[in-house]
Amino acid sequence: MLYDTQQKTLFETKSLERDYFEVISNGYSFQDGIRLLDKIDWDFKDFTTQYLTHTFHSYPARFIPQIPLSFIKLFTKENETVLDPMCGCGTTLVEAFLNNRNSIGNDFNPLATLITKVKTTLINENEFRYFNKKLAVMKRYLDLDYRRVDERINNLPNRKVSKIFNRVVISKLESIRETLLEVKEEGHNDLFDFGRVALSSTIWSLVENGDGIDVDDIFLKKVKSMQNNLNKMAKIIKTIPEVIVICGDARKLDVKNDSIDLIVTSPPYVNALDYYRAHMYNMLWLGMDFDLFRKHEIGGHSHFIINRFRLLSEYLGDMLRSTIEMNRVLEKDKLCIIVVGNSSLEYELIESHKFFAEMGKKIGFEPIKTIFRNIDKTRKYTSADIGKIDDEYILVMQKVDDANVFADNDNFISDVVREQMVGFREQIKKNPGTSIRGRKPTNERLLKNVDKISEAIETIPEDIKIKRQ
Ligand SMILES: C[S@@+](CC[C@H](N)C(=O)[O-])C[C@H]1O[C@@H](n2cnc3c(N)ncnc32)[C@H](O)[C@@H]1O
Repeated sequence: MLYDTQQKTLFETKSLERDYFEVISNGYSFQDGIRLLDKIDWDFKDFTTQYLTHTFHSYPARFIPQIPLSFIKLFTKENETVLDPMCGCGTTLVEAFLNNRNSIGNDFNPLATLITKVKTTLINENEFRYFNKKLAVMKRYLDLDYRRVDERINNLPNRKVSKIFNRVVISKLESIRETLLEVKEEGHNDLFDFGRVALSSTIWSLVENGDGIDVDDIFLKKVKSMQNNLNKMAKIIKTIPEVIVICGDARKLDVKNDSIDLIVTSPPYVNALDYYRAHMYNMLWLGMDFDLFRKHEIGGHSHFIINRFRLLSEYLGDMLRSTIEMNRVLEKDKLCIIVVGNSSLEYELIESHKFFAEMGKKIGFEPIKTIFRNIDKTRKYTSADIGKIDDEYILVMQKVDDANVFADNDNFISDVVREQMVGFREQIKKNPGTSIRGRKPTNERLLKNVDKISEAIETIPEDIKIKRQ
């Protein structure tokens, strides 16, 4: 197979990677696939994880491509369909695309779906030639353009953004944005999206690395490297598989029943990071509305400040609804893979994968195995924001039955979440302070957690409700 050969040349320098490709690169029966999961070293230490379009844009808490790749190779055939209902920057979809599988990606974050779409859309050389000419003209007039800076600051999509960059930077970013709008007006929609991802990535690096004035250079270098990677990818692809990218809610998927052959996803962690905050400046500059996303973001932690355990009930409710949806769209006997790390609330360890496995059993899933993996701590996605996460779990569940319940059934959601929260309270009673790594709080303080969980159990019916706009 062409891709296998190309894939080997991408990674050929390391013998561990060669061995890994040997393991995943044949057609296997389901049982053999399950058996082979034990043969993979899931830490993927020193593996190349940034290649082709994976390099387009950084994204917090993305997973490494080898996780979806392994399941795609072992458990699907060419032309089958893979879904990631919380696709982030599209790691699962890129791997499906490279391996000639159709894919559907869904995420509520409009920046995530833009990145995903661009990473899986090939663009031909004529289009790039037109684009490069446009950018050359833009570059020539950049300094002259600076005369319009006051007018531009007044016209920014949101005034907040004018506070974070100096006037030169704003002027250059606006020149880029206006050029991209012209590209769109002239009918080149894929290039418009491609350019917006390059612009967003440029803004991200300005925010991350501090203000600088080489904006146009950063942007043009980004465009060049993205073009090279997309061209390389075009050479690898034999036939272009179907890709559908949806900006929507994982708790209410716009996907047909029983139409999916494999799900590989990684949900947000409870209390870990607000995605809308991480992307605020990029999204503001691109004129994206993140209010709706903020309202419906799973795991966001900016509310329930007084009793953090209410956040857990809400999170479990949201994840149960999403898992019911995953069950609905997945074909019977197929696999649903959920990758998640532990987190902590008020000194208590939250082992999300255990909650997901228990809840999965109530809605037609059978947990087959949980794989533990160490995360390379030097990797960017274990950032200060996400904090203590240095390992993660890969929960492998098989759909053995229909869920026989809809994701909007509040009574059912309440009952299951209550059962989980009661079990959690019992565990905390026996062993309080399960996630303490630093200074230990007083026993009195820890005992209060049990009362707080009891309080949170009382408000479950209210807390699990989906917030209306
Ligand atoms: C851990 S990230 C996924 C990263 C992804 N695996 C990757 O490699 O890029 C979790 C994703 O869940 C998304 N999300 C949060 N709430 C959501 C919701 N209600 N519906 C759909 N996606 C949601 C976030 O926007 C974020 O992209």
